[in-house]
Amino acid sequence: MQLLPLQPQSFSSSPPPSASTATASMASLTGAATASRLLPSASRARLSLSSSAGRSPASPLSSLRCLRGSSPLASRLFLSQRRPSMHLLAAQYSGAASPKCAASDPEQLKGAREEIKELLKTKFCHPLLVRLGWHDAGTYNKNIEEWPKRGGANGSLRFEIELKHAANAGLVNALKLIEPIKEKYPSVTYADLFQLASTTAIEEAGGPKIPMKYGRVDISKPEECPEEGRLPDAGPPSPADHLREVFYRMGLNDKEIVALSGAHTLGRSRPERSGWGKPETKYTKDGPGAPGGQSWTVQWLKFDNSYFKDIKERKDEDLLVLPTDGVLFEDPSFKVYSEKYAEDQEAFFKDYAEAHAKLSNLGAKFDPPEGIVIDGPAKAAPEKFVAATYSSGKRELSDTMKQKIRAEYEGFGGSPDKPLQSNYFLNIIIVIAALALLSSLVVN
Ligand code: HEM
Repeated sequence: MQLLPLQPQSFSSSPPPSASTATASMASLTGAATASRLLPSASRARLSLSSSAGRSPASPLSSLRCLRGSSPLASRLFLSQRRPSMHLLAAQYSGAASPKCAASDPEQLKGAREEIKELLKTKFCHPLLVRLGWHDAGTYNKNIEEWPKRGGANGSLRFEIELKHAANAGLVNALKLIEPIKEKYPSVTYADLFQLASTTAIEEAGGPKIPMKYGRVDISKPEECPEEGRLPDAGPPSPADHLREVFYRMGLNDKEIVALSGAHTLGRSRPERSGWGKPETKYTKDGPGAPGGQSWTVQWLKFDNSYFKDIKERKDEDLLVLPTDGVLFEDPSFKVYSEKYAEDQEAFFKDYAEAHAKLSNLGAKFDPPEGIVIDGPAKAAPEKFVAATYSSGKRELSDTMKQKIRAEYEGFGGSPDKPLQSNYFLNIIIVIAALALLSSLVVN
């Protein structure tokens, strides 16, 4: 994958009121080329908007309202249309009375997920998308209550000012990859799309299913981005202290630090981006995706527990161990978890899924407040009816009950130990009585 230069964009049509902010957004930086490719004319833009509204269960009008609130890029495209009817609608949308709509549309979230899966199949960008989600969420500061000052998963990473933070080197490529998906599904917020892309990548790479919710609200201007320096360094003087300082600030604990570090089972480090890693190794020189960099594991597109196994062994010169990775087997508290995860992939998957879901929610403001779940609880296959399941089972009778039953049997001349003997005399009497009854009926 080639690192594309950032090109300032110039939209020919009159900018929306928020243009000063949107011009600094990733959308505005990369949007021009994509937008002109996808939407060369007003009519095509209109088509694209109405088709996306059509996918949504909401009415076109409310969908467009939601759309405008969620995506600066979409707003720009929307407002850049010169058709009077569009302007009329735009004027309506800017009014105070706006209907209640969730931050993201559930159907569009599902559609976007399918597109992400397709993207992964052709670009093998699983690691990059995971890093994108993590870097949007990982700026969270639990000591700041106010949103969006507290940072976290709020889509701020789409703005150039934040993309330019040293820790985010290379993530502009992730934005470029998912921007067309954002354009196709404008009623999904950036904040949701980043997290959706990350979890989809993990799941598609063979990792655990992550219990996600959506509905994250986006920040709307670059001034709301967090300041630089909230993400961890790979080579600080005291890696364990540094990791605790950064991750405790996010409200995460030692177990979560170790589990989340396991995401390095995917991907590579590139010296031209972060300064860490070799330019290439035997595992990365042929890709897939853009060749080069140094991976933590041999199969760096497969999500498993090999990160912990490989760091523990440290046998292969071609595999990366950052100071912050190595310390996971040195610090006594971290070591408990690293050792466990190296032995037990199931335990790693379980803890990873929980920690990742927590990470993805950090600092997020949800609309609706409880979030949107797009994967309902898995439907269990209908259970086969087994009578025994519903019976109270075989129970031992009490002695008194046994005596009572015995007495009743013996009253009939039988015994519970032996089947009751047939009484021939009684049977003959019954047959004669029945015949007598029948013949009297016939005679009468
Ligand atoms: C514990 C502190 C962490 C440090 C110091 C750290 C540092 C780094 C560095 C230096 C890179 C190489 C970037 C490049 O050169 O392109 C990287 C890549 C990566 N990081 Fe982390 N990271 C940390 C935690 C995490 C967490 C919590 C996650 C996810 C939950 C994560 C996911 C990734 C992924 C998937 C890549 C590979 C990206 C690619 O191949 O393009 N990291 N990290």
